[in-house]
Amino acid sequence: MNIDIELIQDSKLNTVDFNNLAFGRIFTDHMLVCDFANGEWKTPKIMPYGPMLFEPSARVFHYGQAVFEGMKAYKDDNDDVFLFRPDENFNRINKSGERLAMPTVPEDVFFEGLKKLLEVDNAWIKKGEGNSLYIRPFIIASEGAISASPAEEYKFIIICSPAQSYYAGEVRVIFAEKYSRSADGGVGFAKAAGNYAAQFYPTSLAHKEGYQQIVWTDASTHEFLEEAGTMNVFFRIGDKLVTAPTSDRILDGVTRKSIVQLAKDFNIDIEVRRVSVTEIKEAAKKGELKEMFGSGTAAVINPIKGFKHQNDTFELPEISDSYASFFKEKLLGIQYNKLEDKHNWRVKL
Ligand code: COI
Repeated sequence: MNIDIELIQDSKLNTVDFNNLAFGRIFTDHMLVCDFANGEWKTPKIMPYGPMLFEPSARVFHYGQAVFEGMKAYKDDNDDVFLFRPDENFNRINKSGERLAMPTVPEDVFFEGLKKLLEVDNAWIKKGEGNSLYIRPFIIASEGAISASPAEEYKFIIICSPAQSYYAGEVRVIFAEKYSRSADGGVGFAKAAGNYAAQFYPTSLAHKEGYQQIVWTDASTHEFLEEAGTMNVFFRIGDKLVTAPTSDRILDGVTRKSIVQLAKDFNIDIEVRRVSVTEIKEAAKKGELKEMFGSGTAAVINPIKGFKHQNDTFELPEISDSYASFFKEKLLGIQYNKLEDKHNWRVKL
C-alpha cells in the first residue's frame, strides 16, 4: 500500500523527560492521517504531529460522530517492537464505527499505516517494564454540514504518546446509584467518544468525595455492576474471581478477555456472570471480598483499594497473594516478550 510520508525537521524527542510522564500529554513527532471522501479511503499520509484545520461545521463537533481505540507498543531488550492482540482493536474500531454509521477502515490502512508510523517514531518506544507507547487510533466525521445525519467525509488518524502508568495514586470507586453510563440497545459496547464525555460530570462529583472512578451499574435497577468507564472490573470473593459478562452496555476489553483466558490457563476459579452490588457489599462485610481491580489498555491492571455505595464505605484488605499482581506480571511478561505466549497474542513488528 502506498503511504505518503513527510518527516519533521527537528525531533522533539530530546525535550521529553521520559522518567516523568503524565498520561497522554506528550505526542510523538508524527501522526497518520487518512481521509475518506466520495465513498473511498484515500492514500494515508504520515506527517508531523500538529494542529489540523477543520470547518466549525464538521459534524464531529455537533453530533459526536467519533470513535477511538487504545493500544500499546512495547520494546524488548533486543529493541524488537511488539503489539498486543492488535486484531482485537482493528475489529473493535470498525464495530464501534458501524454503530455510529461510519465507514469501515480497511485492514491495510490500519495495519500498514500503524506499522510505518511506529517505524518512523521507533525511538519514542522506550525499553523497560512500565514504559510503552500508547497508540490512539480514531475516526471522526470531518464533513462540514450540520444536518443531523451521518457524514460523507471522515478522517482516520493515529497519534501516539509515550506512557507509563495511567493512575498516579490509589484508586477508590463509587458504585453508581443515580447516573448511568449506558443502556440496552445503546452504544455502551462501543468506544464512542460520547461514552467518555458523559462520565466526566458524575466522575467529577466522585472526585470531590475523594473517589477516582465510578463503577457503573445497570441503568434500570442500579443493582448490577458493569464497568468503570476507563476499565473493566474484577472482584475476588474468597479465591473466586468474578467479572460481568460483556453486553451491548459493556466494553469488550482486550485486557479483560486476556485476564479471563489467563485465569483459565492457570486454573484460577473464574465466573463470568452478573455481579450484584448486594453480593459485593455482603462479601465485603463478611471479610470475603479479598480484592477488586480494574483492567484496561491504558490502566493495565489497577487495584481498587476501596468503594462506596450509598452511605456505606469499604476498604479492601492488603493481601500478599494478590490476583491483580499475578495477572499483571503474566500480562506484562507476554507483552514485553519475556514469557511464553501460547495464545499468539504478541505481534512482532
Ligand atoms: C484505554 O485503556 O486504552 C482506553 O481507551 C481508556 C481511556 C479512557 C484512556
